[in-house]
Amino acid sequence: MARHLLETKDFSKEEVEGILDLAQSYLDSKNALNSKNALLGHIVITIFFENSTRTLSSFEVATKRLGGSVVRLDVSKSSTTKGETLFDTAANLNAMQPSAIVVRHKNSGVPNILAKYVTCSIINGGDGAHAHPTQALLDLLTLRKHLGNLEGKKIAIVGDIRNSRVANSNIELLGRFGMEVILVGPPHFIPKTKLRHCISLKEVIDSVDAVMSLRTQTERHDYPIYSSLKDYASDYCITRELFGERNIILLHPGPVHRNIDISDSMLQDPRCKVLEQVTHGVAIRMAVLETLITHSKNKIPKNFPYF
Ligand code: NCD
Repeated sequence: MARHLLETKDFSKEEVEGILDLAQSYLDSKNALNSKNALLGHIVITIFFENSTRTLSSFEVATKRLGGSVVRLDVSKSSTTKGETLFDTAANLNAMQPSAIVVRHKNSGVPNILAKYVTCSIINGGDGAHAHPTQALLDLLTLRKHLGNLEGKKIAIVGDIRNSRVANSNIELLGRFGMEVILVGPPHFIPKTKLRHCISLKEVIDSVDAVMSLRTQTERHDYPIYSSLKDYASDYCITRELFGERNIILLHPGPVHRNIDISDSMLQDPRCKVLEQVTHGVAIRMAVLETLITHSKNKIPKNFPYF
């Protein structure tokens, strides 16, 4: 049975440690990024129904780094635009016997449903406001690198948390690794939660070890919440003035709204780890692909009917 990665809970704490170790081994060894052919002969299909820069290319680079091949389905030209259901699309792609399908969709739960129609691994590249497991794993790797053991450490997640799959996955995963997650944003951006939450980052900035800024997910808003993103920025943009000399690291999943989420000068500050997160993202996705594909039973098809 193929294993899927639909949300962070699909991996036990020990399995997450294994993924982090494997990802770290790729980062540590200069040659490891292309010396290993763990996915030689394997095909990974990427199918993204929402725009993406980092996640899509990161999965594709990760597959190629491990010697695998990528087939990217251009959804604007796929048969879903001719009325084929998503489930039939998935079943048809699966019939070509890929080792994994990476999917992103605007509706929460799509990857979970697709997993019922296929025999290969389904990897969630982000579904609605629900989950983005590989993003949380790469954030965990970045936090561990700079903060060491996360037990008792604190992170403020700032911004549109209610609509953020990145926040959702991080709340689960970072909490499991002992971090206290504090939610910061205007009341309409804060979900119903038992977590500590506040309106202004100034209230907690002296006690946190890390800040994760998020993009305002305007595509998921039914009506404009701020009259302009500039108004939002005046309350929530992360600036050098706000950080002062504090020893805090700053994360953001991208895409960054410059001078709305994070100021130009803060993006250049050494405490800002945004590009490092992207590098870690490739290593994490290599580790996830290798683990799901080669440790479970999705072998390269031996008797593919037409060859
Ligand atoms: C995020 C996403 O798409 O969920 N970006 C990403 O994957 N790196 C965050 C966002 O779109 O704001």
